[in-house]
Amino acid sequence: MHIAVAGDHSAVAHTRAIIAHLAKLGHKVQDFGTATETSCDYPDIAAPACESVAAGKNERVILVCGTGIGVSMIANKIKGVRCALAHNLFTAQMAREHNNAHALALGARIVDIPTALAMVDVYLNSTFEARHQRRLDKIATHEGCSLPTNP
Ligand code: RB5
Repeated sequence: MHIAVAGDHSAVAHTRAIIAHLAKLGHKVQDFGTATETSCDYPDIAAPACESVAAGKNERVILVCGTGIGVSMIANKIKGVRCALAHNLFTAQMAREHNNAHALALGARIVDIPTALAMVDVYLNSTFEARHQRRLDKIATHEGCSLPTNP
């Protein structure tokens, strides 16, 4: 599978481990950075990775920041991309089975590396249950809706 991986400065050790893990499993991994612990802005890293999925260049994206919150927010702004913020094996599994998420977001300050790798595995190995498609179609109808930026 072609998989994009992206993480900010708080997640360098996690993204390195995830990339090595996926490559060892035989996946084609595209690394969107960041490579160092120099502070950066997670939208700059996560958006291109998600756009690569929207463009059909990658099939999945693994995103990591401190909490996973920021990368999941930007990922869900990319048209056509559904990103799930997961905190454990169960939510990583549900991200595929119920939500058919293109992107999995993790928090490097929330889960340790072995847990993150196990979450990536369960996310990639789980199968979407088609009975949930109606809900995903309804999500798609809301793409492009607008809200005040400071409600
Ligand atoms: C960076 O300090 C931190 O804000 C970021 O990694 C992430 O947790 C944001 O949601």
